[in-house]
Amino acid sequence: MKGFDSAPAPRRALGSNILLLAALATCSAWLYLLGADSSTPATSHALPQNYQHILSTCASLHATPSIASSFHDRTESDRYVRGSEATWIRNASIWTGSRDGVVHGDVLLGRGLIKFVGSFNAQQVRDMGFELDKLKIVNANGAWVTPGIVDLHSHMGVDAAPSLRGADDTNSLHGITQPWLRSLDGINTHDMAYELSISGGVTTALIIPGSAGSIGGQGFTLKLRPTAERSPFSKLVEPPFAYNGSGIVPATPLRWRYLKQACGENPHGVYGATRMDSIWALRVAYNEARKVKERQDAYCAKVDAGLWRDVAALGEFPESLQWEALVDVLRGRVKIQTHCYEAVDFDGLVRLTNEFKFPIAAFHHAHEAYLVPDLLKKAYGSTPAIAMFATNARYKREAYRGSEFAPKILAENGIKVVMKSDHPVLNSRFLLYEAQQAHYYGLDADLALAAVTSTPAEILGLDHRLGFIQEGAPYVLIPLFGMFTELGYDADVVVWDSHPLSLGATPTQVYIDGIAQLKDPFANEKPSAFQKVPETPDFGDEAKKAVEYDGLPPLTPTPNVGVVAFTNVGSFNAQAFSAPTTIVVERGQVVCNADCVVPKDVGRVVDLKGGALAPGLVTFGAPLGLVEIDAESSTSDGVVHDVLRGGVPSILGSDPIIRAVDGLQFSGRSALLAYRSGVTHAISAPVSYGFISGLSAAVSLGAAHRLEKGAIAQRIVALHINIERGARESVSTRIAALRRLLLDAEAGGEWFSKAAKGEIPLVVDVANADIMATLLELKHEVDEAVGSKLRLVLARATEAYLLAPALARANVGVILVPSRPYPAVWDMARMLPGPPLTEKSAISVLLEHNVTVGLGIEESWSARNTRFDIAWAALESGPEGISRATAFALASSNLEKLLGVDLPRDIVAYEGGEMFSLSSKPVAVISSSRERVDLF
Ligand SMILES: *[C@@H]1O[C@H](CO)[C@@H](O)[C@H](O)[C@H]1NC(C)=O
Ligand SMILES: *[C@@H]1O[C@H](CO)[C@@H](O)[C@H](O)[C@H]1NC(C)=O
Ligand SMILES: *[C@@H]1O[C@H](CO)[C@@H](O)[C@H](O)[C@H]1NC(C)=O
Repeated sequence: MKGFDSAPAPRRALGSNILLLAALATCSAWLYLLGADSSTPATSHALPQNYQHILSTCASLHATPSIASSFHDRTESDRYVRGSEATWIRNASIWTGSRDGVVHGDVLLGRGLIKFVGSFNAQQVRDMGFELDKLKIVNANGAWVTPGIVDLHSHMGVDAAPSLRGADDTNSLHGITQPWLRSLDGINTHDMAYELSISGGVTTALIIPGSAGSIGGQGFTLKLRPTAERSPFSKLVEPPFAYNGSGIVPATPLRWRYLKQACGENPHGVYGATRMDSIWALRVAYNEARKVKERQDAYCAKVDAGLWRDVAALGEFPESLQWEALVDVLRGRVKIQTHCYEAVDFDGLVRLTNEFKFPIAAFHHAHEAYLVPDLLKKAYGSTPAIAMFATNARYKREAYRGSEFAPKILAENGIKVVMKSDHPVLNSRFLLYEAQQAHYYGLDADLALAAVTSTPAEILGLDHRLGFIQEGAPYVLIPLFGMFTELGYDADVVVWDSHPLSLGATPTQVYIDGIAQLKDPFANEKPSAFQKVPETPDFGDEAKKAVEYDGLPPLTPTPNVGVVAFTNVGSFNAQAFSAPTTIVVERGQVVCNADCVVPKDVGRVVDLKGGALAPGLVTFGAPLGLVEIDAESSTSDGVVHDVLRGGVPSILGSDPIIRAVDGLQFSGRSALLAYRSGVTHAISAPVSYGFISGLSAAVSLGAAHRLEKGAIAQRIVALHINIERGARESVSTRIAALRRLLLDAEAGGEWFSKAAKGEIPLVVDVANADIMATLLELKHEVDEAVGSKLRLVLARATEAYLLAPALARANVGVILVPSRPYPAVWDMARMLPGPPLTEKSAISVLLEHNVTVGLGIEESWSARNTRFDIAWAALESGPEGISRATAFALASSNLEKLLGVDLPRDIVAYEGGEMFSLSSKPVAVISSSRERVDLF
């Protein structure tokens, strides 16, 4: 294929005479049986004692994974848990993943399988051998049901939640190519993430080693549900081998194996391997495997020809425990998952696959894949699928050209699209959100759902049992045998509270192997509009530009300092108009706010198509305006000195508090994307990995440089410090330092003195409730001593809900970062997950106690998703919960109140819908402070 197949295969000698003699001399196991088997060819002179074994080894040498014909007859799953009840889900809207499309009807789950889909009656259920009185009947009331979510890229169980040194098994650091390692050997079955991710509808995940090395090791596919045995092995789906107490037995027929490869920056960073080194390491490894494979092939060629004397001379069947996994790659038995981002890396891997003749199942992350579809199609064998994030990009150089339009563009190029979590990089509980965003940015609805169900199942080679809602065919007559057959998929299904592509869709129940996973789930009623595929904006032009500009389309808005008319405006500041109206703006000021006549001197007319004008949002928590590419220090302000560790340059004097305002940079891509998504301002603190961060600044995300009018909204906002467990010095040391800085004016210097006197907010980044309680006591102590009120704000604040009444009494507000919690570290282990696991989320608990709550983000790329974060928080709280106004306040006025800033009232124009809706797209920012309208 592609010019390589016709090239002669390299020939190598099968062994020198010396080796041959040595082999003969040492093989005492060989027994020469002249003419022992009349079925062997005449050339046969001798048969080794284990010749049957050799024959069967050689007979299966070219076997590739397949499905046993008996699989189609299965009436119960190999994972069926005896005694688990059958379930009849009635009146569901079933997205089947198959040609059947959407079926309105029932699903019967029994013996771990999907038994019926569609219309059936009690008699048919009885005929299948299910007793109605032992059956759980669930009335779905029209709710959406999908196949369980399949995550093609997860480190769950090898990378721990909460992260603990003793459970970090993601990356071996012992070699750049280690195909012999197996994720299975490191999978912790007690991890907190299983339950959390199941509660988001994830039922199956491929657990792969990390990307430190070019070959990180083998992956294994498991179901997330707990098993009675509690072992990693008992969670596996179709493991390639089994063990029984007296041996390891390969599965027959063969099953798929998985291998993790990586290229680009990660091997570079960990092994100091340039891209040249990485590809060379891969070629060396594959060459070793090729040598073993060729020896095996040559050996079996002799066996097949009955040349047993030659076989004897070769000795034992050539095997290598080190390289056998790569030999299996070359034999077409492995689905390779390759972490690879850039055109240059795809090019290297595509050449590698053609040199050694093996296919790659999927490129992962692959932020530049959409720019090079034709290159991907040159991969040996078949075009790799692309497994990606929706909007997580720019965190390192090779992710810099990532585009939210990549799923759409790739699909249009006929390339299979998978959305993956890389858990815990993204919390796989919300993997469906990746599909929702891909759909929002233009991926077809069915492909978006397939991207987290049937497509990953196919890439795993498990689409005969996972990723679809398909029943057996119990009444199909196989003419020849007169038998009934069934091909029921695994009973992994999710019942959703809204259409799965609508924002905030949450499972009301998750079945794995037919077993309901959520005990007493909490479900909120969702608005009826959320029960259908959301309408989404047209991003066709934006997608074209992304390709045209090689992944870096210009993001700078076009300013208009004259007159701009917005027509067809549906609402203004959440006040809906009875009929769409026209609003006129001049130099960024609204000069006519309803039923306006478009003036003659209008510079631009913007049709909002019933959309909205709404105040701009504020982002907090990520270093927007300070960092462009996280992993590239030359693109950022840098990291401040850690005062507790010393080494602060003496030239900074005795009060070395750093100001973010001094390090600001503008026009960054994450900043501009946030701006183009309705986030007009950021409050950013200096980046610190130590105790004191410094003073935050409030900046306009649309400004081109700091000298522009309105670019810096407030030069100094708050004083930021960090207190966490697991730092080099103890929590109590940091508390002691803080006490001294606040109580001893000389030690505290200008800024801690101001904080003590309540002249500037003190923002403490803290996740753990016990530390927060200590801080509340300290605040009391300081307030008493200083005679004023410390304006304490707790950021991150994962466990703050536990102290809600005390926080309210002390008038201490919190900023939850991130808005949807994940127990990344021990300090966060008591996080409140929210529905469906708990009725309330931390946001709603805190708000109910009248604590002022803001929401923040951890990484700059996610600032653009702020409006969805707040909409989600409101949806999650139910119809009686968080109002739209309160949700809006979470990322605007509450942050301003907590941090004591008064930001300019920029107004965002949304086309085609309101701010919280997936149907809308921001098209302009009206800025009175900057005296302009920025058009996108
Ligand atoms: C199915 O549920 C829908 C939505 O609740 C309802 O309108 C319809 O009547 C139900 N159909 C049956 C057969 O129960
Ligand atoms: C386990 O598997 C081995 C290899 O196939 C077989 O020889 C042995 O009989 C099996 N033992 C049991 C207890 O099933
Ligand atoms: C919160 O404030 C509201 C309105 O002021 C009040 O009715 C309610 O009782 C307060 N809740 C708590 C828990 O203090």
